[in-house]
Amino acid sequence: MTETVTLGFVGSGDITHAIVTGIFAQARERYEVWLSPRNAHISKELADRYPGVHVARDNQHVVDQAEIVFLAVRPQIASEVLGTLSFNPDQYAVSLIAGYGTEKVRDSLRKAPGRIVRALPLPMVAQAASQTVLYPKEARVRDIFDSIGGSLGVASEDQFDTMLALSASMGLFFATAHAQSSWACRRGVDYEVARSYLMSLCKGLASAALLGDIPLDALSQQYSTGGGINEQVVSLMTHAGLFENIDAAYDSIEQRLVATREPNRRL
Ligand SMILES: NC(=O)c1ccc[n+]([C@@H]2O[C@H](COP(=O)([O-])OP(=O)(O)OC[C@H]3O[C@@H](n4cnc5c(N)ncnc54)[C@H](OP(=O)(O)O)[C@@H]3O)[C@@H](O)[C@H]2O)c1
Repeated sequence: MTETVTLGFVGSGDITHAIVTGIFAQARERYEVWLSPRNAHISKELADRYPGVHVARDNQHVVDQAEIVFLAVRPQIASEVLGTLSFNPDQYAVSLIAGYGTEKVRDSLRKAPGRIVRALPLPMVAQAASQTVLYPKEARVRDIFDSIGGSLGVASEDQFDTMLALSASMGLFFATAHAQSSWACRRGVDYEVARSYLMSLCKGLASAALLGDIPLDALSQQYSTGGGINEQVVSLMTHAGLFENIDAAYDSIEQRLVATREPNRRL
């Protein structure tokens, strides 16, 4: 019989909602979940929906019930919340808090657990449709994320922060797609038609890339006929400095993350 693993979540917000939904959609019999009472609406909704989900009395009650505890509060209140939590050496803390490095988490907790893992889930874990970056890639935490879209390990905390900077691509993705759809719309195409076409194009391209490990620059060439319209767009964007600006933007985000991850530094 499969062992039941007890998970806790301190902070029941959007990302907790996504992880718990993913877990119970994919592997419900394996997990029992304790949620902090805040946010009251989300914790009640999840507890009403899934029999294995319970709402704890307070944050320390979450920690006392769980083997693996997810720290899922916003960075602005993290030090205040973490400072009230006492773990025992057998437990795991999985920090989702941006700008909180392993040492900062350890330093902020009243009593630290034996293992601290940083994780970078995306909202699409709710549909088991995105991979989660982990540092370090501890087997027990890896198993959880492998059941809701997969996991990727990195070799250092610097690399984790590089991936965290890379995750700041979601707003840019939709903003770019909006600019493209709006351009078509100004030419008279219905916005919904352009939006739907572009999203299915992006989904198809991502699926094609995920099928193999062809480098993305090679795929760009493969999908750009010489002298054709795809090549022309890449060339125009290159001359407009798009790719240099991408480097500069992500450099700046990474520097911000590395600068704030140590104890006593704020994001
Ligand atoms: N959303 C993402 O895609 C994502 C992805 C990866 C990592 N993260 C990280 O995960 C953390 C949470 O993000 P989120 O998007 O889930 O934020 P969120 O939706 O604002 O959730 C945070 C939750 O913390 C609760 N909270 C406030 N004070 C608390 C306290 N003293 N004790 C316990 N809970 C308290 C809030 O409850 P109230 O509503 O009652 O104030 C809120 O429900 C952040 O550090 C973020 O950087 C988020």
